[in-house]
Amino acid sequence: MKPFSFLVLFIFPLLTSIAQEVKGVDGVNLKQFGIYDKDLLPASFHKKNREKIRSLMPNNSVAVFFSAPVRTRSNDVDYEYHQDPNFYYLTGLREPHSVLVIFKNPVKINGETTKEILFVQKKDTKDELWTGKRLGALGAELVLEIETAENNTKFKNTDLYFDKADKIFYFPIRKDVRDNVFDKADLNNLLLQFDSKIGVEDKNKKDSTSLSHWMAQLREIKSEEELYMMRKAVEITCKAQIELMKALEPNMPEYQTEAIVEYVFKANGAEYPGFPSIMGSGENSCVLHYNSNRKITTDNSLLVSDIGGEYHGYTADVTRTLPVNGKFSEEQKIIYNIVLKAQQAGIKKCKEGNSFWDPNIAATSVVSQELQKLGITKNPLGVRRYFMHGTSHYLGLDVHDVGTYLPLKRNVVITVEPGIYIPEGSPCDPKWWNIGVRIEDDVLITDGAPEVLSDCVPKTIEEIENLMKLFSIFVRH
Ligand code: GLY
Ligand code: MN
Repeated sequence: MKPFSFLVLFIFPLLTSIAQEVKGVDGVNLKQFGIYDKDLLPASFHKKNREKIRSLMPNNSVAVFFSAPVRTRSNDVDYEYHQDPNFYYLTGLREPHSVLVIFKNPVKINGETTKEILFVQKKDTKDELWTGKRLGALGAELVLEIETAENNTKFKNTDLYFDKADKIFYFPIRKDVRDNVFDKADLNNLLLQFDSKIGVEDKNKKDSTSLSHWMAQLREIKSEEELYMMRKAVEITCKAQIELMKALEPNMPEYQTEAIVEYVFKANGAEYPGFPSIMGSGENSCVLHYNSNRKITTDNSLLVSDIGGEYHGYTADVTRTLPVNGKFSEEQKIIYNIVLKAQQAGIKKCKEGNSFWDPNIAATSVVSQELQKLGITKNPLGVRRYFMHGTSHYLGLDVHDVGTYLPLKRNVVITVEPGIYIPEGSPCDPKWWNIGVRIEDDVLITDGAPEVLSDCVPKTIEEIENLMKLFSIFVRH
């Protein structure tokens, strides 16, 4: 914030009063920056993360991170903005067109010694009238507690010591970013400017692979602050599954089931779904990532509801399979109970020190044996025809979160989600056709028994059928 420095004596009282206002916990004063949520991750969390990445960097190196691009939905309308998870993890900033530079060793920028600099969109009354308040450089320093922040227009000509560093770490430079010809410091220009800044450097100095390993290593283990967010996201998602159970009945279009769960997300403070809601009924219960959600549900069919609310960046991912008419058929019950048994076997393996793949091995073995007993498959390998995805993935800022795939550690969250999908035309008795079942929970690895975060939504046949008898406030059809 160089331009302000010479004024510091005069505006110091003003700065401290803003700082006190901003740091007030009542949330009211953050309004000037367009921030209304009162339980966002604290600046100290993001600061700690910057320290952690710095500790992994070798001496005399620099790491560069870019915010996520703004994406066009159609013509002049954009998709709702979503920050890049690594960028959010390190800064807490939810605005586009920004760059974070972390120095292993302190450097001098504009005469001030610093270990980090964040370039952000400048405050602009006209732009803010259209798209809302921004933090600006001053706000980034005060609210996010970034040591040094500048307007992104300064990125091009700021000396970032790339020539003096022994290593420059960055993610592969993306080539798919839209250019806004009216903005000389949009992400597209920032990337081009970065490319030309490092273009002259020796290629041995440039490293575009290490950051992803380091970020995976850090993000895999959840801190207490992150677990608070994840518990919130999961709790809201459980509520959504329960409301859906109460409301579901034949002839309800899949999109209405989606409307119910997404209403519950928003009504409880989750900003949006962490991924497109999968509401697959009948034949669509056998489509793993079905999300057009246009079919009208029918009597005697199943609905796979695979959903996750995102709360302040962190998403849940919980799946339940429901009988549309409130009662599982005999065939549906048989397949459902195999998947449940497989899931319970998988969850048992969610123990510190076990391989990441142990839950998958346990769940697959149950499905494989049981399908053979039913004559649906003829040999152990046949299981892959009907259970064709992995059992677990990491969960966090991304639904398919990053991680090391090393043995499970304390405070890692993974999903356990076996399934059986028997599409029409499969080489087995047609009575099994169009039965698709997936059961998914979010599991926290502890130093003892696994903690099933999504235990708040029932999953036995009896519990589901009982819940489905309850009254729902949601209007149907
Ligand atoms: N929830 C979707 C998936 O895990 O792929
Ligand atoms: Mn999942």
